Amino acid sequence: MREHGFFSKTNRVGWVSTVGLILLTIVAAIVAFVWLPSAQADFRAQGLWDSICRAAGVPSKWIAGTERGQDAPTVSTNVVLLPAMAKPASSASVGRGATLALNCTMCHGALGMSRSDAPNLAGQYPEVIKKQMLDYQSGKRQSSIMAALAMSLTEENIADLAAYYASLPKARTAPTTYDEALPALVRVGDPMRNIAPCISCHGGVDQKLGAPWLEGMPKPYLVQQLEDFKHGRRKNDGQQQMRNVARPMTDEEIDSVATFYARKALPGHE
Ligand code: HEC
Ligand code: HEC
Repeated sequence: MREHGFFSKTNRVGWVSTVGLILLTIVAAIVAFVWLPSAQADFRAQGLWDSICRAAGVPSKWIAGTERGQDAPTVSTNVVLLPAMAKPASSASVGRGATLALNCTMCHGALGMSRSDAPNLAGQYPEVIKKQMLDYQSGKRQSSIMAALAMSLTEENIADLAAYYASLPKARTAPTTYDEALPALVRVGDPMRNIAPCISCHGGVDQKLGAPWLEGMPKPYLVQQLEDFKHGRRKNDGQQQMRNVARPMTDEEIDSVATFYARKALPGHE
């Protein structure tokens, strides 16, 4: 009697190759989804789905919606910038802020114009002061001096201080414009190195919410901040906006943009 069905002689070849195919698929899946991804230095997959997306080449930042840049999984700041944070405050708030600011004058100057190399606060955008103070509080921006001071303030105190400093005249009122000689990085950036022009975020063409007023800042402060962003010592900038700008910059470029932004110091405050 001739054999029929799956185990028949004629089918044996097909059967062996089917099992072989299944085994091959399993081995390939293990290699692709488990072994290869885990051999990658930055492997931080959160399960099989993550591994599959990764193996398929999906950029890691799409996978979990969390920031997974160089400093991930640490979040760079806890502060969510809202347009309301930039709104002008009441005069009562400014008054309370002026009283609180007596604790700040020693370093930031009587009217927010520093005579040491601390940053000027006069005319600084309110949302910038709020964000930076909250980042000092949470330790996302590190400074032993400022952390101790920020710790003793409530969120309302901070809002009042921001209102007060925002009400003071800026180091110089005119923002950067295209009408003057500008360093190339300020004017056009460097597309080849992915550096966006400073003027597109820091005022001049546009001020991005949360980007500080830089005009007239002490030069050593500007150099220090750019070096800190460049080397990842300061990393409280959301989406690494400033680290990406500063990382490719040379020391000479940092010096030249810092000289440029510091140039607008008021007489006697250079
Ligand atoms: C003992 C000196 C000192 C005192 C007092 C002081 N600061 Fe500061 N502040 C500094 C220094 C130095 C920095 C820059 C630190 C850094 O590199 O992050 C700074 C940074 C800041 C910044 C960030 C500014 C920017 O442009 O990013 C804010 C905002 C600020 N201080 C607000 C205050 C307020 C408000 C007070 C008073 C409650 C105060 N500071 C008191 C020394 C001081
Ligand atoms: C994509 C927008 C963007 C561009 C382009 C940009 N910046 Fe910034 N910059 C920011 C933001 C936002 C912050 C505040 C980061 C934070 O939240 O701490 C900042 C912070 C800074 C600070 C720290 C100031 C302070 O008081 O804390 C300096 C200095 C600075 N930028 C200089 C520059 C220079 C110079 C360039 C051009 C070479 C530049 N930035 C280009 C967005 C930008």
